[in-house]
Amino acid sequence: TAVAMTLTAGAVSAESHSGGCDDGEMVIKFSHVTNSDRHPKGIAASLLMERVNTEMDGKACMEVFPNSTLYNDDQVLEAMLQGDVQLAAPSLSKFEAFTKQFRIFDLPFMFKNVDAVDAFQTSETGQAMKESMSRRGLLGLEFWHNGMKQFSANKALNKPEDAKGLKFRVQPSDVLVAQMEALGASPQPMAFSEVYGALQTGVVDGQENTWSNIYGQKFFEVQDGVTETNHGIIDYLVVTSVDWFESLDDDVREQLTTILREVTETRNAESFNVNEEAKKAILDAGGVVRELSPEDRQAWVDAMKPVWSKFEGDVGAENIEAAQKINE
Ligand code: LMR
Repeated sequence: TAVAMTLTAGAVSAESHSGGCDDGEMVIKFSHVTNSDRHPKGIAASLLMERVNTEMDGKACMEVFPNSTLYNDDQVLEAMLQGDVQLAAPSLSKFEAFTKQFRIFDLPFMFKNVDAVDAFQTSETGQAMKESMSRRGLLGLEFWHNGMKQFSANKALNKPEDAKGLKFRVQPSDVLVAQMEALGASPQPMAFSEVYGALQTGVVDGQENTWSNIYGQKFFEVQDGVTETNHGIIDYLVVTSVDWFESLDDDVREQLTTILREVTETRNAESFNVNEEAKKAILDAGGVVRELSPEDRQAWVDAMKPVWSKFEGDVGAENIEAAQKINE
């Protein structure tokens, strides 16, 4: 048994990353928390790895560790500052300890879709955000898209009152905590890798996430259903450490930057479709998806939007205004 277990463990780890770099190649470890296929981030990370390992062969070698196999999002940024991992793409909700600027992305109903998020990020303000943490040792390289968030719970959620009194897992973000409190629900910050178990055992009643995460983590299997609220977004920052990035030879840094740029453009254009396919896969697997009437959706907006005022000082009234202009 011991031998078989070792072999199994070996097979799993060989599958989850590139499986061996050559002598003399600089190793670039990329740690993330989602599944690698049928997921906007997972697919993008795999494509990045493939291209780096082909086009930078002999110079650099990338290993991708998906599914929180190396670090979860609570640990990865500290590990990056220690030099133990070189790239990650945590959701923008996971940078609270480093910047409050990203809170705009967590505010409910701030962006009407991922195109609006993209337009905001492409603006001068959005681009400057990538460098907002450099004093703290972190450098943002590119924004990667996931998509719109939906609510799920162990009972039907049609009106905001249905969420009252329920425990919801949230990412560790003060905005998301305030959002759930505005619904009269009880927010429970928790690492992504623990959510399925917490839903299954009833430690929490519900959660919010994108179709690709609800499908990839099988949350729908341990929930009554998913309500199509599109009430917020999950987006990512591909991040590295300032020290590591500056230590690279100019040609290596430039080639890596170019490949990352191209992968970003290619995969961000597909993020909406990847989520639509995940939604379809949930339905095909027998998952329940509930649509809201326009009146019911407005009730969710009315219940959650008041949290904007609480965070206006952190994110800037002018940025909220800019985001709303994009939505028009
Ligand atoms: C979550 O924690 O729910 C997400 O940020 C996970 C992810 O990386 O998409």
